[in-house]
Amino acid sequence: MTDPSPSDAPSGVSGLPARAAALDLLAAALSGRSGLDEGLSHSSLAALAARDRAFARALVMAALRHLGPIDAALQARLKKPPPERVVNVLRLGLAQLAVLNTAPHAAVGASVDLVAKQKGGETFKGLVNAVLRGFTREPVVLDDADLLAPSWLYARWRAAFGVEAARAIAAAIAAEPATDLSFKDPARAAALAAELDGEVLPGGSLRTERRGDVAAWPGFAEGDWWVQDASAAIPARLLGVGPGQGVLDLCAAPGGKTLQLAATGAAVTAVDRSPQRLKRLAENLARTGLSAETVGVDAATWPDKRTFDAVLLDAPCSATGTFRRHPDVLWAAKPSDVAGLAAVQARLLDAAVSRLKPGGRLVYCVCSLEPEEGEGQVEGVLARHPGLALEPVAAGEGGTPAASVRADGALRILPQHLNGGTDGFYVARLRKS
Ligand SMILES: C[S@@+](CC[C@H](N)C(=O)[O-])C[C@H]1O[C@@H](n2cnc3c(N)ncnc32)[C@H](O)[C@@H]1O
Repeated sequence: MTDPSPSDAPSGVSGLPARAAALDLLAAALSGRSGLDEGLSHSSLAALAARDRAFARALVMAALRHLGPIDAALQARLKKPPPERVVNVLRLGLAQLAVLNTAPHAAVGASVDLVAKQKGGETFKGLVNAVLRGFTREPVVLDDADLLAPSWLYARWRAAFGVEAARAIAAAIAAEPATDLSFKDPARAAALAAELDGEVLPGGSLRTERRGDVAAWPGFAEGDWWVQDASAAIPARLLGVGPGQGVLDLCAAPGGKTLQLAATGAAVTAVDRSPQRLKRLAENLARTGLSAETVGVDAATWPDKRTFDAVLLDAPCSATGTFRRHPDVLWAAKPSDVAGLAAVQARLLDAAVSRLKPGGRLVYCVCSLEPEEGEGQVEGVLARHPGLALEPVAAGEGGTPAASVRADGALRILPQHLNGGTDGFYVARLRKS
């Protein structure tokens, strides 16, 4: 997705349908009820023309990526907070002015029209006009890294990683990420790099600044590759499996890591408790021509008695490391989520250990920046299972950035560890004696 230039802003009667869809999307993303992904496939957006849809999406992403500074700027101008729906109109208005560089008369005029369409919104036309006009006279810059993350998460990151690292993490919230692709056959990455305007990264992922519908890109229909962030591609590589080995992928859907494991020639069993997500995994297998056994079940209570040479557990988590593509996760997350998820992760880790043959390898990972979901989990599982030991990962292995390797050989991958950014992950490799 590209933030449209001013000339891309829908002209129409003021681009009202696109902005109305953006308003619904922003409310859905911030409510935490339905994620941004679900909202993006919602019918109000699907009903728009392609150009309006792209603008609505870009507008919501611009607002979410700068929400902290936007709210600080609005607070400084609002004596009394208006209803949430009106605040959201102002957030989108300011995102148009200060991020998308929409022509000021269009941004202000359309925001006034938009608030007037809301229930009880007529009363707030003057306020929206005055506040947004104020920003056209005194423009604001929305890139203060200290304001980009919700304050409770920022405080956690400062405590876990230090002030400078936390600031670098937060700075990545405002940046629009490139797209990373994983290839079924690594040789195809090099062959398609020029056609995809891409660069092959150390672990073999291909990074491209291309935008738009990935299904139309070279190699997609042929099943040569799938979209997967560079750091999300590291855990499966660290299992080091190949033909003749049995691998269990315990929380597998939608299957980015299953596809990597299947591409090695290993016999993969992919377990996930979500039937909808397993359906996407099956579609991904079909498109890429790869195969895996799929099982729809709760991994913690799966009655199957088989054990495996290797197990990958990509556990459900707060997903705070994925904010580059899903900035809504930061604003929908609550402090209490982390403790609840940590309990689930511990249960799933015990299940993963019980499925491992003696001498087998387990890779545990989460796309979370929260230590309770990463370092804390591995500390816990090592204490509960004396036959288990960390198997340190070396810098460079599977594309591991040197800066991500901790003293104990586990990985704490931060967005700033790769040029151009990457998702935050915790990864640990363990071996059962
Ligand atoms: C982080 S996502 C996995 C992403 C996947 N490994 C990939 O690379 O595409 C976590 C997955 O865990 C699944 N899940 C959550 N709790 C589970 C459980 N108790 N048993 C099995 N799957 C579970 C969710 O449905 C979700 O698909």
